[in-house]
Amino acid sequence: MRTLTIRRPDDWHVHFRDGDILKSVVPFTARQFGRAIVMPNLTPPIVNSKMAMAYRGRILAAVPSDVSFTPLMTCYLTDATDPSDLAAGHRDGIFTAAKLYPAHATTNSDHGVTAIEKIYPVLETMQESGIPLLVHGEFVHHDVDIFDREKAFIDIVLLPTLKRFPRLKVVMEHVTTTEAVQIVRENRPRMGATITPQHLLFNRNAIFQGGIRPHMYCLPVLKREHHRTALRAAATSGEPGFFLGTDSAPHLRHLKENSCGCAGVFSAPVALQAYLRVFAEEKALEHFEAFASLNGPAFYGLPPNEGSLTLAEKPGTPPGATTIQNQGEIVPLFVEEQVDWSVIQGT
Ligand code: NCD
Ligand code: ZN
Repeated sequence: MRTLTIRRPDDWHVHFRDGDILKSVVPFTARQFGRAIVMPNLTPPIVNSKMAMAYRGRILAAVPSDVSFTPLMTCYLTDATDPSDLAAGHRDGIFTAAKLYPAHATTNSDHGVTAIEKIYPVLETMQESGIPLLVHGEFVHHDVDIFDREKAFIDIVLLPTLKRFPRLKVVMEHVTTTEAVQIVRENRPRMGATITPQHLLFNRNAIFQGGIRPHMYCLPVLKREHHRTALRAAATSGEPGFFLGTDSAPHLRHLKENSCGCAGVFSAPVALQAYLRVFAEEKALEHFEAFASLNGPAFYGLPPNEGSLTLAEKPGTPPGATTIQNQGEIVPLFVEEQVDWSVIQGT
């Protein structure tokens, strides 16, 4: 039985939601990861340090008492973001980063930024204070095909922004295309990218396998096979620009299995198992620690976690759907499937 011991990993992109859903999903992440970058797209969104501090408190209250877990908070940028509140929140250790959701690009992005120029003063402050900008890299317009949104974002929004703010640190979240991988490589070290398990495991055929598969629908949407191949090469290379970010995005079953289903894959219960499948298939297990535990902290200027985690190639049955009191259930990735890897020990 192969085993792998790595520094305790982190998840650099996760959605916890709030209320009863938060209470149910936080333990899955906290048991596998030491820290996580928490997305701010709640209703209403987390737009200032006061809201972030309260939200952090609610997350910490949901962490099981036998694990240590640190949520790293992000500020949801709007056309009206106050640069001084963001800078003060960063200085006080409340905000680790700020998230750019182009308006209407994804779940709860209606308050997002309507034009990048609107937040130039905020980006100026972020550049000066060393606050990373996390981008949902999709340009949404009725003339732009949904499969081309990431490339359009790179050309129309990202490249001019990188040029105008040459010292701004940028993470392109959940990259899905060869073009995004290339931009990250060309802009090291001030750029990095997270990669989700679903974009490494599946191409867009998975959304239509024998019928429509709402649990395979996420944003950015799954892409063609050649993009998946490029993502797998980047993730498993050990290159410092690429790090683990699950984008675990829980939605209730009835809101996904719906005539207008929500976007998001709930991967938290099987996150490491999902990535390990990819690294084992690519015969790149020796690079897993860099991707999961070292590259992210290095980009964010944080030390790696102190503890370690031992994983073994031992078949396991992942949890079934998670029941949320009075609301329904959430279906995770790999439901009713076996996984080849198990977490056997953590410190
Ligand atoms: C995310 C969500 O549901 O909040 N959904 C998704 O498909 N990834 C939002 C996001 O990260 O785009
Ligand atoms: Zn996300």
